[in-house]
Amino acid sequence: MANIIEIKNLTRRYGSLTALKDLTLDVAQGAVVGFIGPNGAGKTTTMRILTTLLKPTSGVAYVAGHSVIREPKAVRRVIGYMPDFFGVYEDMKVWEYLDFFAACYDIPHAARVGMIDDLLTLVDLNHKKDDFVENLSSGMKQRLCLARTLAHDPQVLILDEPASGLDPRARIEMRELLRELKNMGKTIFFSSHILSEVADICTSIAILEAGHLIAYGDMQQMKQQLRPHRLFELRILGELEPAQARLLQTPHVTSILTAPEVDIPPNAIRFDFAGSDEQLSELLAGMIGSGVRVIHLGEEQGDLEDVFLKVTQGLVQ
Ligand SMILES: Nc1ncnc2c1ncn2[C@@H]1O[C@H](COP(=O)(O)OP(=O)(O)O)[C@@H](O)[C@H]1O
Ligand SMILES: [Mg+2]
Repeated sequence: MANIIEIKNLTRRYGSLTALKDLTLDVAQGAVVGFIGPNGAGKTTTMRILTTLLKPTSGVAYVAGHSVIREPKAVRRVIGYMPDFFGVYEDMKVWEYLDFFAACYDIPHAARVGMIDDLLTLVDLNHKKDDFVENLSSGMKQRLCLARTLAHDPQVLILDEPASGLDPRARIEMRELLRELKNMGKTIFFSSHILSEVADICTSIAILEAGHLIAYGDMQQMKQQLRPHRLFELRILGELEPAQARLLQTPHVTSILTAPEVDIPPNAIRFDFAGSDEQLSELLAGMIGSGVRVIHLGEEQGDLEDVFLKVTQGLVQ
C-alpha cells in the first residue's frame, strides 16, 4: 500500500524549546493512526505542520505526494483538518455553517444543498439543521466540526483530539463516526491522550513523548511485543474456588487476583495469561466442562495504558 503521509526528520523549535525532534513516520493509505502522547508532547505541532499552518524548523512532510512546504495549496485540497479548538460562530444555523465552509471550498451552490444533507446525515445532525450552532451540545458541535472538514471530500483526515471534552456517550458517537469514515476509505490521523479511547479503532499507534517518537507500529503487534502477558477478567456465578483452582493448574496463567486486592467485583477473577488464543479457548472450554458457571470473560481495558507505560518508562525527560 502506498504511503499517503510521509514525514521525514521533522523538527520544530519554539525559541529554545524543541517541541518536535527529528520525527520520521509514514502512514499507509486507509490506515487509522492514533497519535498518542501526554499534553505538551508535540502532537498539535506535528498536525499544524502537516496541515501547512506551521513551518517546520527542519525536515519535510508530504501528503498525497505534495510537500507541505512547497505545495501547501495542493496539500490543503486533500486533507480535512479538525483543530483542537474551534471558534464558535454566533447567530449561524447548522446548515448555514456547513454552507459557509462548502462555499469556501468553491463548491457551487446547486451542489451544496444535497451535500449538506448528506453530511448532516453522516454525522447524525439532520434533525438539528435549522438550530443555531451555539445551542448544540458539545458532542454535536464536535460532530458538526467534523462534517465541516469533510465538505471537500478529503482523502486524509487530521483530527486533533476529536474526543476531548466530550461526555462518555458523545465519545462513543464520535468513535462510531470515525469507524464509519474508516469504512469509507479515509486515512485518519488523529491525536489523543486517552489510550483506551483509540484502542479499538486504530490500525496503528504512534507514541510521542517530549517531542520524540518512541514507538510506532501495528496496534496488535505492538501490544503483543510489549505485553506478552494479557490480563483477563473472568466473572462467574457461584463459588470462586473451583475456577481459581482450575486457573492455578493452567501453565499459561501466571498470576491470579481477586477483590479486594484489585478493584473488581466480588464474583470476578483477574488473571494474567501468556498463552495463545487457542489455549485461552481451551482453558475456557475446560472450565465450563467442569461445571464452572462462566458469565463473562473479557480482556482488560487497561491494556493499552500498560503498553504506554512500558514504552515511556525511563524516557520521560
Ligand atoms: N506557539 C508556541 N510558542 C511556544 N511554545 C509552544 C507553542 N506551541 C506549542 N508550544 C510548546 O511546544 C510543546 C508541544 O506543544 P503541542 O504541540 O501543543 O503539544 P500537544 O499537542 O502534544 O499537547 C509544548 O511544550 C508547548 O508548550
Ligand atoms: Mg495538542
